[in-house]
Amino acid sequence: MEMEKEQKSRILIIGVTGNLGFHLANKSIEAGHPTYALVRDSAFSIPHKSQILQTLTNAGAKVLKGSLEDLSSLIEAIQQVDVVICAVSAKQVLNQKLLIKAIKQSGCIKRFIPSEFGLDPDKVQIKDLDYDFYSRKAEIRRLIEADGIPHTYISCNFFTSYLLPSLVQPGLKSPPRDKVSIFGDGNTKAVFVKEIDVAAFTISTVDDPRTLNKVLYLRPPGNVYSMNELVEIWENKIGKKLEKVYVPEKQVLKSIQGKSSYIT
Ligand SMILES: NC(=O)c1ccc[n+]([C@@H]2O[C@H](COP(=O)([O-])OP(=O)(O)OC[C@H]3O[C@@H](n4cnc5c(N)ncnc54)[C@H](OP(=O)(O)O)[C@@H]3O)[C@@H](O)[C@H]2O)c1
Repeated sequence: MEMEKEQKSRILIIGVTGNLGFHLANKSIEAGHPTYALVRDSAFSIPHKSQILQTLTNAGAKVLKGSLEDLSSLIEAIQQVDVVICAVSAKQVLNQKLLIKAIKQSGCIKRFIPSEFGLDPDKVQIKDLDYDFYSRKAEIRRLIEADGIPHTYISCNFFTSYLLPSLVQPGLKSPPRDKVSIFGDGNTKAVFVKEIDVAAFTISTVDDPRTLNKVLYLRPPGNVYSMNELVEIWENKIGKKLEKVYVPEKQVLKSIQGKSSYIT
C-alpha cells in the first residue's frame, strides 16, 4: 500500500480555495497523491477559506504559504513536488508567468498543468470578444513551450454549475417555467462537465505518459447537448411546453459586446 503511494507523483495545487482548485485537491488526495497547496496569506483570515484549508489539511494535504507574486515561495514549494497544477481564475492567468519562471529554474517538474479548464484557447475565436483570456491562456501556452516545460493542457468545455442551473438564461438561478430564450437556432451542441469530474480527469492524467505535452479534450458523449435538446428535457421533466424566444446570433453578439463573460 505504502509502495503504491510512493510511486504516485507529488502534486502542488495553486488555487485550492477556489472553485475548481478545491475539487482538484480533494481528487488528488483521494487518488493517493501526496498533495500540497500553495495558499496566499490573506486566505487564512477569511472564515470560509480557512474552513476549506482545515478540511484539506485534515484530509492529508500539506498547506504551504506563498503566492504567485513571490518567486522564493514558488521555488520552495516546487522543490517539494513532481507536478504543478494551477487553478487561478481566468482573470489571473497571466500571473502564472513567475510560476513558469520558477518551474524552469527548479528543473524538477515532470508535468505542469496551467490554468485553462475551458475551451481550447488556440481554437476559440469569438469575434471582437476575447475578454482578454483566450489570448492570455494561449500566451501562457507559448511561454511553457518556449521553456520546454513538460505540460498537459486540459480543455474541458463548460462547467455545469455556470450555465446549466439556469438553462442558459442570463440572470436566472433556476430554469424558467414559462418562457425561455434560445440563442441562435438552438441546434449548436455544447459539452457540459461537472467541476468534480474535470478535477478527477485532470488528476488521472498526471502520471500517464500518453498525456504528456498534449491538449486533452474532455467530451463525454452523454454530456453533449444543444439548447433545443436541453429545453426539451426540461419540458418533459416539468410536463409543460415553454414559450420559446429565438434570439438571432447577431443580436446575441450585440447584447454581450463590452460585457464581462462567464465563458472560459
Ligand atoms: N469551463 C468553464 O465553464 C469554466 C468556468 C469557470 C472557470 N473556468 C476555469 O477554471 C480555472 C479556475 O477558475 P475558478 O473559477 O475555479 O477560480 P476561482 O474560484 O476564482 O479561484 C481562484 C483561486 O486562485 C487563487 N489565487 C488567485 N491569485 C493567486 C495568487 N496570486 N497566488 C496564489 N493563489 C492565487 C485564489 O486564492 P485566494 O483565496 O487567495 O483568492 C483562489 O483559490 C480557470 O482557468 C478558469 O478559466 C472554467
